Amino acid sequence: MAGPGSAAALDLLLLAVCWATVGEALAWDAPLTGCSDLLSADCEGAGKTGRGLAQETCADRTVGYTYQRADGNRIACGRGVMDSGSEPVEINVGGFPEWLVGVPSGDGATIWGVVLGDGRTMGFRVSTEGDVSRVMLEPTEVAEGKPVVLVGGGGGEPQFLTTQVGAKFTHPTPLASGVVSVQSRFDGESLAFAGDGSNQGFLKVPLHDARILTDGEDMGERFMALVQPTVKYPHGVLGDSTEAEGISLFSQEQGGTFTEALFIPAPGEDVFEGLFPVWADVDDDGELEIVATLANSTHGARVAVYSEEGEVLGESEPVGAFRWRNVGPVGPFGPRGEIEVVDVLTPHLTGTVEFFQLDKEKKELVLVAEKSGYTSHVIDTRNLDLIAGGDFDGDGNLEVLLPDIDTREHLAAVRHIDGGAIEAWRVPLGAPLASNIATVSLSDSKQRVTLVVAAGNSDGIIKIWQ
Ligand SMILES: *[C@@H]1O[C@H](CO)[C@@H](O)[C@H](O)[C@H]1NC(C)=O
Repeated sequence: MAGPGSAAALDLLLLAVCWATVGEALAWDAPLTGCSDLLSADCEGAGKTGRGLAQETCADRTVGYTYQRADGNRIACGRGVMDSGSEPVEINVGGFPEWLVGVPSGDGATIWGVVLGDGRTMGFRVSTEGDVSRVMLEPTEVAEGKPVVLVGGGGGEPQFLTTQVGAKFTHPTPLASGVVSVQSRFDGESLAFAGDGSNQGFLKVPLHDARILTDGEDMGERFMALVQPTVKYPHGVLGDSTEAEGISLFSQEQGGTFTEALFIPAPGEDVFEGLFPVWADVDDDGELEIVATLANSTHGARVAVYSEEGEVLGESEPVGAFRWRNVGPVGPFGPRGEIEVVDVLTPHLTGTVEFFQLDKEKKELVLVAEKSGYTSHVIDTRNLDLIAGGDFDGDGNLEVLLPDIDTREHLAAVRHIDGGAIEAWRVPLGAPLASNIATVSLSDSKQRVTLVVAAGNSDGIIKIWQ
């Protein structure tokens, strides 16, 4: 068993060494400026947007994740320029672009990091005029299949954040005062924090491919991960048959050590089927909730919303045995700005985009609109991020952006309007989508925020709408 007991002298030394090597790269806490409202491009007019959407600084994030936000909520702010007629910038990467992450460069341009299917990485800078140049991003190679996080945007030194014994199928997560990662050694996986003068191991065993979330508002004094791996639910569509039996939330104490503030066990025979929960304000009360997919062999997957006290606030209906649902963005998707949880039901079969509203009295997630024919995941992969929410066409309404299920050769914008969910428009990709959908929200001197979107396709072309 891994844990503080086994995090002996050698481990601490390794942590200290890797902390020193990544220390330079941890300039992500460059001042964050920009729009504080998810939708409004001029930063005025509050709107019903919930904590973490309205108050959290949404633009000019200096860390690039494959899932838009540090808290796992795949939603991006600002106004985009996509619609059926828009012309994207194109970059040929000469390989299969598996992962794509972006950050602002600090001078109006964007920096994009790409991981190819064989683990080689590449970096590009795209100016506001659409001029593309290569940039050096270290390391130039990662383990095959490994997702990445890009730090040092906003004028820092952009690079992929890595640790020396980091688990193969995940990446470290930057915190306010250090880095938390899933470490992988001969005796299994463990959570480890490497920080300024305080290194720490944890007893809770993480899912080996867990993506560790942080609450963007407190700049990473808390982190959350799926823990307690189990093979008791033999579904195995997310790259392996290991799922999680719990969610742990750790909070930093004075002095720098973390303690477990919350543990949510999956009830009965259930598992949490995913790589991370989504940490978002579902009921618009200013506190974050935790949204996750629960599943078991008799009833299949349902979506559950928990409070930060671990109480169940609402659940959807289950879909049926060995059927999955991928929780996507949470935000004001409703026709009147109601906060909704979006998921994709059976992304390998019907690909139904579902919009749910939380009914706290009935403790239910109520399905309010749906539209089939899309996907957010290719079966047997660990890329659950073929989906994003945002105002991609700049019209003031939110869309869910994701590929069509039949060919994955288009990105479609699905919107919840009065009367139901519709496809507002789609753009051609030229080849099936290969990567996650990546976004960067850029603010200009007038505090307007532009939503830039990138997608990598299986013909080796990355398209960027800016
Ligand atoms: C399986 O899930 C259903 C709801 O989806 C739940 O009612 C049931 O208790 C679960 N079964 C077990 C054995 O945990």
